[in-house]
Amino acid sequence: MTSPRTARPGLPELTERLGILYGGDYNPEQWTPEIWAEDARLMQDAGVNLASVGIFSWASLEPEPGRFTVDWLEQVIDLLADHGVAIDLATPTASPPPWLGHRWPDTLPVTAEGVRLGWGSRNHYCPSSPVYRERSRLIVAELLRRFGDHPAVAIWHVGNEYGTPCYCDQCAVRFRGWLQDRYETLDALNTAWGTAFWSQRYSDWAEIIPPRQAPYLINPSQQLDFRRFVSDLLLECYLEQRSMIIDANPAVPVTTNLMRFYWGADYRTWAPHLDVIADDAYPDPNDPQSVVEAALTSDLMRSLGHTTDGQRGWMLLEQAAGAVNWRGHNVAKSVRRTRLESLRAIGRGASGSCYFQWRASTAGTERFHAALVPHAGEDSDRWRAHVAHGQELRALSPAVQGQQVTAEVAMIFDWDSWWAAEEPAVPSNRLKPLEQLQAWYTPLWQSGITTDIVASTADLSGYPVVLAPTAYLLTDDALANLQNYVAAGGTLVVGPFSGVADHNGHVRRGRFPVGLTDVIGASGEQWLPLPDTCEVMITSELLGDGPARVWSEQLRAEGAEVIATFAGWPVDGLPAVLRNAYQQGTAWYLATVPDDDRLGRLITTVIDDAGLRPVLAGLPDRVEAVRRGELLFVINHNIDDVVVTTPGRWRDLLTDTLVDDQLRLPGEDVAVLEPIDGGAE
Ligand code: GLA
Ligand code: GLA
Repeated sequence: MTSPRTARPGLPELTERLGILYGGDYNPEQWTPEIWAEDARLMQDAGVNLASVGIFSWASLEPEPGRFTVDWLEQVIDLLADHGVAIDLATPTASPPPWLGHRWPDTLPVTAEGVRLGWGSRNHYCPSSPVYRERSRLIVAELLRRFGDHPAVAIWHVGNEYGTPCYCDQCAVRFRGWLQDRYETLDALNTAWGTAFWSQRYSDWAEIIPPRQAPYLINPSQQLDFRRFVSDLLLECYLEQRSMIIDANPAVPVTTNLMRFYWGADYRTWAPHLDVIADDAYPDPNDPQSVVEAALTSDLMRSLGHTTDGQRGWMLLEQAAGAVNWRGHNVAKSVRRTRLESLRAIGRGASGSCYFQWRASTAGTERFHAALVPHAGEDSDRWRAHVAHGQELRALSPAVQGQQVTAEVAMIFDWDSWWAAEEPAVPSNRLKPLEQLQAWYTPLWQSGITTDIVASTADLSGYPVVLAPTAYLLTDDALANLQNYVAAGGTLVVGPFSGVADHNGHVRRGRFPVGLTDVIGASGEQWLPLPDTCEVMITSELLGDGPARVWSEQLRAEGAEVIATFAGWPVDGLPAVLRNAYQQGTAWYLATVPDDDRLGRLITTVIDDAGLRPVLAGLPDRVEAVRRGELLFVINHNIDDVVVTTPGRWRDLLTDTLVDDQLRLPGEDVAVLEPIDGGAE
């Protein structure tokens, strides 16, 4: 969803002042003033221009209720500012001090099983707790009193990675209030939740509880509303602090850090309230597919920054310069790959590339998490690489400034559809929306087609091609939006188990996809997940033959051309892929999970037919190409060198060399090509 945001400052203003943002989370409460001084010097050496400070400092700032000890933070901020480092100042409310839970146990969150969680970790707060909220406001007010007008504070960072749900009685009260706002009457709620079934009818608002552990499966509409409620409740916590900050100083952008495709919060509803779209991304170097996921996540973040008045951009606020502390097996990540990941984000529109964390901890849970300053200290290849990268980003800044990524393909992804489709008790738990999104995205990534990730109700008119892989829940507005999009000349591809549920998560009656059957020129009667024991194929002149997996559907063509047919029980001879001309546009429907080759051919055919061209044709395997304005980023994910055909004349801004038609790119290296005399034809 887009919204106008003319009034608030954000990344354009920040980067105009500071250039590409580079730095990391700085947790100075772990260190002595001598180390602070060393840190300030090292940040300057590395060209760091942003430090996120105070994220977990609550106990150091308020060691007991109402006694504030903020001087040390001021010293740190002033010291860093003297070394050219701007501050992303956090409100420390993601990790309350032990005194909060000790004195007020009902500030602690309760799980669906009824377990009240303890302190000794972090995120141990109930978002509904009036005491937690009050204590949060007090510490934020104290920080604003001290730093509201501090010239070094360039961004405010509210909380950290909002995400903990709570099922306590206080949350039950808030849940009821949220439901009353949504439904107004109990009758409406009973209808929306389908409570006639299993004797779940509510006769009093007080009977309604969060979806706590129950003897058997829980009402899916209740679950869906609870997920929506939790997202809104956490957003309310963020907004409460955000409005305090804006009241104190409207000139400084306010944000919080997102977590990729995070299950626990609908980032579409959050995005309009973040002045800076900031992501924490930790692709697993042990997973070959993670390079695709990282690109997809970057595209999501960039898309979250779209507004009716243009692009606001995004930044990587946290990533790892090596190992993380929370993965079972942390395989080596080279310094080359660390640099590559940073430049990849910049290529996909990021204005900043920052890390968790600045200096490696020696104690605490994250003592084995990589950092810009490693345990080994300055005399290390890692440190030298981080210094070089900081300088490189500074040099790259002017060229990147104002250059935007434009996508010609959009993929539909809605949080409530994701939630609803992954409730238990659907026909198959093997067909997962996010997995399907990734699978469909992969051929786009491979062929260098840049993609936005948008809501089903977004304005699609600017995209020649829209893909909707497993769009399970589509509201009436979304159905109309998709239909109008195709009618007006767009190309839409709809995937299996789409258009099944309405906004309440109720199954729509009629032949499916209800509301889109005219558009796709076909309709379905039953979903038929495939047995493990039988081999079903799809056969197609256009796509070639290959296996169908997990899922099939009993479809009937009603005007659409059958592009691929199932072979084998239970769908022998039935259509598997269809294409239909609908008014000015074209709609495709795919009724299964094909192998990668068939899916790739399908998607590249659609792209081709729509007249879209990859950023670079004939890219070698695992080489990523993305255009940011006139700049062309080419990223080699292989260990070995590759040769990439780059028609035209270019200058590689990272090496300051000329590239004429052909780029030789070493393993795990990146080129940022600027056209010379028009560059690529
Ligand atoms: C059992 C229960 C029914 C129904 C079915 C579903 O038979 O008694 O109420 O839930 O399982 O398979
Ligand atoms: C997230 C958190 C950080 C840190 C890192 C570790 O990004 O925000 O505080 O725990 O994960 O990877």
